[in-house]
Amino acid sequence: MHSISYYQEKMANHFSQIVANKEPKNLYEPISYILSLGGKRMRPVLTLMATEVFNADCEQAIPAATAVEVFHNFSLIHDDIMDDAPLRRGHQTVHEKWDLNTGILSGDAMLILAYQYFEEYEPSVFQKLAKLFSKTALEVCEGQQYDVDFEIRDDVTIPEYLKMIEYKTAVLVGAAMKMGAIVAKTSEENANLIYDFGLNLGIAFQLQDDYLDAFGDPETFGKQVGGDIIENKKTYLYLKAIEFAKPEDKQQLVHLFSIQPNDSTDKIESVKAVFNSSGASEATKGAIKKFTFKAFDTLEKMDIEAEKKAILKAFGENLMGRNV
Ligand code: IPE
Ligand code: IPE
Ligand code: MG
Ligand code: MG
Ligand code: MG
Repeated sequence: MHSISYYQEKMANHFSQIVANKEPKNLYEPISYILSLGGKRMRPVLTLMATEVFNADCEQAIPAATAVEVFHNFSLIHDDIMDDAPLRRGHQTVHEKWDLNTGILSGDAMLILAYQYFEEYEPSVFQKLAKLFSKTALEVCEGQQYDVDFEIRDDVTIPEYLKMIEYKTAVLVGAAMKMGAIVAKTSEENANLIYDFGLNLGIAFQLQDDYLDAFGDPETFGKQVGGDIIENKKTYLYLKAIEFAKPEDKQQLVHLFSIQPNDSTDKIESVKAVFNSSGASEATKGAIKKFTFKAFDTLEKMDIEAEKKAILKAFGENLMGRNV
């Protein structure tokens, strides 16, 4: 098995070529644009890693890894429309740089493109990959719908929130890894264990995404800091603050999450102050650790060499320390 940086390099320059110079330009340029902005490329790296964990050549997994990353980028274009986000990876979002219709159609095309990559596999592998992908993509839609529904609800619970992030984010991380297992033709049991590893890592990942959305460094984060607060997103931070805050702080928080002022600067500062004073920030950091360690527990059940476990663990630990 190779190092994490080896897999990153394998995927690094892969995405700029995908639809280069295709017509009509207004359909394909936004696709090249979003893919060339990079990002962490976490999901395709996980697909390649999983393939080698189960003793196959990661080269074989490149089409599946590409499919996952193209799908992820499609979901980001549509997510930025839904979240009214101005910034992605430090640059204008597609719907801001072009317009809403462009974001919708270029996104649709990317979803189809993603599927096409599975055609490169033999029928039995194709069927398994496509089946997993369809199930996952539908769950992502369900998670995204809950996320939007929760914006205007004031009775969202922690279990509901966890289900929402499992669907909108974690299932794709699990699926990215399971695809590596499918390409490697390992046992069903191994494939399911690596899915669970990815799923729990994905939950930790989204919890941290929520944390960074409020407390990330605007210089490096690449997205609008405070975007979730502006949109009244019911994140773990918010739900724990509601649970822990003094009655007057709780009242203020509920009020602030029922309005959308023209200038959100004060709202963001007030909300962040309550996130910190209530202990919600600490609770969120604790939850990130909890789900990362839950992922590590799954590793222990897997019948693979200690060296491979160590590389997967290092990946999870790096994620915990990230600030983008
Ligand atoms: C952003 O995903 C969307 C979430 C599920 C939180 P990433 O943080 O992996 O985004 P990029 O691809 O690195 O930009
Ligand atoms: C996005 O969640 C999940 C999907 C794109 C499916 P967020 O809305 O939190 O992602 P960011 O913060 O915009 O990247
Ligand atoms: Mg968003
Ligand atoms: Mg969103
Ligand atoms: Mg976010």
